[in-house]
Amino acid sequence: MKRLTVPAIQRRKFEGKTKEPLVMLTAYTARQAQLLDQHCDMLLVGDSLGQVIYGLPSTLQVTLDMMIAHGAAVVRGSYHSVVIVDMPFGAYEASPQQAFSAASRIMAETGAAAVKLEGGQAMADTIAFLTQRGIPVMAHVGLTPQAVNALGGYGARGRSQEEHAKIIADGQAVADAGAFAMVVEGVVEPIAIALTQSVEIPVIGIGASAQCDGQVLVTEDMLGMFERVPRFVKKYGDIAGFISDTAAKYAEEVRARTFPGLEQTYQPK
Ligand code: KIV
Ligand code: NA
Repeated sequence: MKRLTVPAIQRRKFEGKTKEPLVMLTAYTARQAQLLDQHCDMLLVGDSLGQVIYGLPSTLQVTLDMMIAHGAAVVRGSYHSVVIVDMPFGAYEASPQQAFSAASRIMAETGAAAVKLEGGQAMADTIAFLTQRGIPVMAHVGLTPQAVNALGGYGARGRSQEEHAKIIADGQAVADAGAFAMVVEGVVEPIAIALTQSVEIPVIGIGASAQCDGQVLVTEDMLGMFERVPRFVKKYGDIAGFISDTAAKYAEEVRARTFPGLEQTYQPK
């Protein structure tokens, strides 16, 4: 199976009568990418790895080097999905030129097909700058976690008329600027639906609507790795319980000296 491409993803917005939704999950490691690859259209190396892998308090502490190390691992572990790497906080907001240096490092050092950045109208010039120079950009509007301090928390966006209009304008601005797709996160459903209908690029929802052109979740959230997850997460598994139970069995056998057994030990001939 050949790897999907950015233009193929973009075309899916209008392809066929059924317009099958695009499937995206986060991936941070090579083995995780291998396991998810065949089920997905896109793998996102999200800066959510700050909290999920590194135990950081937010995504604001994530560095470009961290994103590049994990991006390269995910590209090595996949051969089918389009791999998209998040631009970390501080690496792109100052100017289109700053964004280009960060994005070009990501592209060259990971082999990913695209970058993702947070922001709407304020990032339109940057999105155009990168896109015109050969770097496909996925935008991210609505609840943008890198702006948690300005937003005052991770609550759903778009409950007021003013906020509703701003999110739609953000989505239209990034589409006009040349983004190949966008994530819309944590917005009241009517906004997600209106945005999906008003732009000609795929809108990938998270805490948005089943009527978006696709869905994304943080894989560890979806697998049930954490007790506390946002309302928009559905736990499809209980990997936390599985890991804990499995570690308990191992610990018990070690303490009972029943591991290692004959099968796991080398005996002289
Ligand atoms: O960092 C991330 O995982 C993301 C997705 C939740 C869209 O940006
Ligand atoms: Na992110």
